[in-house]
Amino acid sequence: MKITSVKGFADIFPGEVEIWQSVEAEARRIFSAYNFSEIRIPIVEKTELFSRSIGETTDIVEKEMYTFEDRDARAGTKIRPPSGSLEFSGQAASTVQTTRLTLRPEGTAGVVRAYVESEMYKIEPVRKLYYIGPMFRRERPQKGRMRQFHQIGAEALGRGDPLIDAETLLLLSDFFTAVGLTELSLQINSLGDAACRPGYRETLLAFLRQRTDSLCANCRRRMERNPLRVLDCKEPGCIEATKNAPSILDSLCEPCREHFATVQRLLGDTRVPFTLNPRMVRGLDYYCRTTFEWTTARLGSQSAVAAGGRYDGLVQELGGPSIPGVGFAMGIERLTMLLRMQERSAANGPSLFVVWVGDRARDWAFPIVHRLRQKGISVEMEGETRSLKSQMRRADKLKAVSVLIVGDNELTSGKALLRDMATKQQEEIAMDRIEAELLARKTI
Ligand code: HAM
Repeated sequence: MKITSVKGFADIFPGEVEIWQSVEAEARRIFSAYNFSEIRIPIVEKTELFSRSIGETTDIVEKEMYTFEDRDARAGTKIRPPSGSLEFSGQAASTVQTTRLTLRPEGTAGVVRAYVESEMYKIEPVRKLYYIGPMFRRERPQKGRMRQFHQIGAEALGRGDPLIDAETLLLLSDFFTAVGLTELSLQINSLGDAACRPGYRETLLAFLRQRTDSLCANCRRRMERNPLRVLDCKEPGCIEATKNAPSILDSLCEPCREHFATVQRLLGDTRVPFTLNPRMVRGLDYYCRTTFEWTTARLGSQSAVAAGGRYDGLVQELGGPSIPGVGFAMGIERLTMLLRMQERSAANGPSLFVVWVGDRARDWAFPIVHRLRQKGISVEMEGETRSLKSQMRRADKLKAVSVLIVGDNELTSGKALLRDMATKQQEEIAMDRIEAELLARKTI
């Protein structure tokens, strides 16, 4: 019986993996320039970490988390299974104590948990951390939306100033430029803080109560607990009903207004274009003040390539002192999809494919291929005797950038043929200078 992969969980094959590697390498380079260090956190955390931080009334916590019961009571909080619960079937409710664990749906909660648990802040509260890895959300799979997806994320903890908000946006802007991603637009908003958000919440709630009948069942259900979620609903009826909803930007207190004005000024000074979107509340509840999304028009409804914002209350919510934070995450699947669409990063095969005809040519080529590989150049050659045509077909199939052709004639004349596979142009190069020649060429 053939066993297939799970829906929404994908393999990433050679050809594709190289694009991922170059995106990750570019991210690491830029993170290092901005003085971010890598942190590696577990894929599994206690469920309450996510419900407490992301928010009970978010889609992620309500319906998208991969949660399971772990029998090892020592692993975490002990809870008693409710009687009759299917999730606990097969376990004696009165004796087995279980822990609810969840595959991480995002990275911020885990990073903050690690920061608090290790008491990193005692030595130095300001920490700039980044992570790269898989996340899991049980969403309906579609183009650009997977159940296992990958994020490159960053969190700057310990700084409440607006400069760091602008810095994270500049980092992203630099990253997009470095990988050659154009046509992204930046939207920003401010969600206020504990001083001004409650006032906005009431204003919005009063507005929504007058339109309850036009809202979807989901929004009606969670509106009283979390009215801001309604602004994030994708149902056409809800979008229409909230078209003229009061803007949160009109409710900001003076410190929040000033903070947001400075972020905007800094983006202007550094020439990062943006638009204001007062409806952007994000799908996670921990945000305050600055929030942002970088979107593309090329991925249909899954338009967000990177998103994030400030979360000044989260460290305290997770048991630490009052320490602010700001960060973002970008989806690697969406990034690589866009890159492929732009054909900026076509999945090139080897830089060079050496086509040899005859044993003498093979024996000449083998050590040269080895030396070029030692210099970090990606080179391939056949091991068995094949016709010139068949080797050229193989080079084509592998998407080799160029081909070096060596046979008896070339060995005699001391000149080999180098063919550019894209332009189809050929030129002769001296065989005794072949390594130096190839190393000097940009395409190799
Ligand atoms: P998020 O908006 O939920 O934020 O996700 C960030 C990015 O992850 C999205 O913009 C998208 O590119 C990618 N993404 C999310 N879900 C999927 C999916 N199902 N399939 C493919 N890609 C997906 C967060 O996760 C926050 N932790 C970001 C953050 C960090 N805020 C502050 N610090």
